[in-house]
Amino acid sequence: MRFAVALCVLALFVATLALDNGLMRTPPMGWLAWERFRCDIDCQNDPKNCISEVLFRDMADRLAEDGWRELGYVYVNIDDCWAAMDRDSNGRLQADPKRFPSGIPKLASYIHDRGLKLGIYGDMGTLTCGGYPGTPLDKITIDAQTFADWKVDMLKFDGCYSNATEQEQGEEGRRVGGMSKGRVGMDILKVETTGDKWFTQPSAACLTQTLFFLIGYPAMSKALNATGRPIGYSCSWPAYQGGLPPKVNYTQLGEICNLWRNYGDIEDSWNSVLSIADWFFNNQDVLQPAAGPGRWNDPDMLVVGDFGLSMDQSRSQMAMWAIMAAPLFMSNDLRTISSGARTILQNKVAIGINQDPMGVQGRRLIKEKSGIEVFWRPLSDKASALVFFSRRTDMPYRYQTSLGQLNYTTGSYKIYDVFAEREMPTLKDSTHFVVSINPSGVVMWYISAPAGQDQENTHVGGKLRGPAFHRHGNGIAPIVL
Ligand code: GLA
Repeated sequence: MRFAVALCVLALFVATLALDNGLMRTPPMGWLAWERFRCDIDCQNDPKNCISEVLFRDMADRLAEDGWRELGYVYVNIDDCWAAMDRDSNGRLQADPKRFPSGIPKLASYIHDRGLKLGIYGDMGTLTCGGYPGTPLDKITIDAQTFADWKVDMLKFDGCYSNATEQEQGEEGRRVGGMSKGRVGMDILKVETTGDKWFTQPSAACLTQTLFFLIGYPAMSKALNATGRPIGYSCSWPAYQGGLPPKVNYTQLGEICNLWRNYGDIEDSWNSVLSIADWFFNNQDVLQPAAGPGRWNDPDMLVVGDFGLSMDQSRSQMAMWAIMAAPLFMSNDLRTISSGARTILQNKVAIGINQDPMGVQGRRLIKEKSGIEVFWRPLSDKASALVFFSRRTDMPYRYQTSLGQLNYTTGSYKIYDVFAEREMPTLKDSTHFVVSINPSGVVMWYISAPAGQDQENTHVGGKLRGPAFHRHGNGIAPIVL
């Protein structure tokens, strides 16, 4: 009992420390190995795709030479399975010597020489999710210093094997659903990849895990700060706590982390993308205010360019991630990416919307019975973005509405269709129009402030309710766009 009280006092103390690195004022962008390359360590048989310095150098070359870097995709991020199984004689983590023979510092300079940044992966616990050495509480300072000495620019800090008790109780290596919670054993289980069912079973181990995280994640924040090197800090903490208050304290997260994974792992499928987007928009009242410059919700990687999404679904992921002000970490093979996927990921206006300096996360305005959803994000210069999204599976749907019905105030608005890459006819707030939205696709608009508009707001807020939004028949012929 006395131990628990001591932990709580310590937790309160460290919880007040703020991350003050001035980084990631807009959502970070780059490339992250995990979804596409996982824990492929078979460099003998799969030398081009295994987790090795070759893969990261290849991706750095592509980012630098194929126009990605100039668009903002600057992080080259290592995920799990990079480390040797043992720490060195000084207790420091070290890279697997066979797969990273030049070492991480050399890789860092290779990446820096190309105007890019290096991210690395660690885990708040005894082991990483893939079973490599983790960072227990007594190793936080030394690991932060090691990463800084190596000139790392970002740390993704996972939460598997969060303490020895759980490790004993959990089943070694088992993965439950999309998120690696198997080792938690009696604790927090996500039982489905696609659903939003999280079960929390109170137990002594659960309490220990919560306290352990409460100490560990802020302590790593402080340790990174103390190195004097600006290192972006991505915390997987909320994903291990069910993603929602009261277990998750978003005020505290915003103070100690630059971004945080709230939910389960993305997979290369539309089902996975949709379930993640649904969870984020269903919980937008909690999540949306948590985001802002320097602190972002992370719905996980972009899988555009892989195998699971159609072109329409790829545009949908890009559009929804832009509305959500999500970090844009692609996990794909930039050496072989199709020109269609590249065009979507390199869309300047979609990126500009994602990177808007005001940093206000967008919201879902409306969920129609027809399966159409409309998302909105306020942007700087009184501009905004709208996304019309179809969950339908039949044929392109002709959705009729007006800007007024989507809460826009009086005025004439200039519209740019982001993926069609063309200007649209100017729309008055009162003009009824029809947009045609493909199944599992989007239409995304960048909307400029009305000319001569001197009022502050061009939109009256983020919530639409009521039957008006299910029927629009008022006898006026709509403009078909
Ligand atoms: C967890 C994380 C993933 C990835 C793997 C690595 O599942 O959520 O993003 O980092 O661990 O093992």
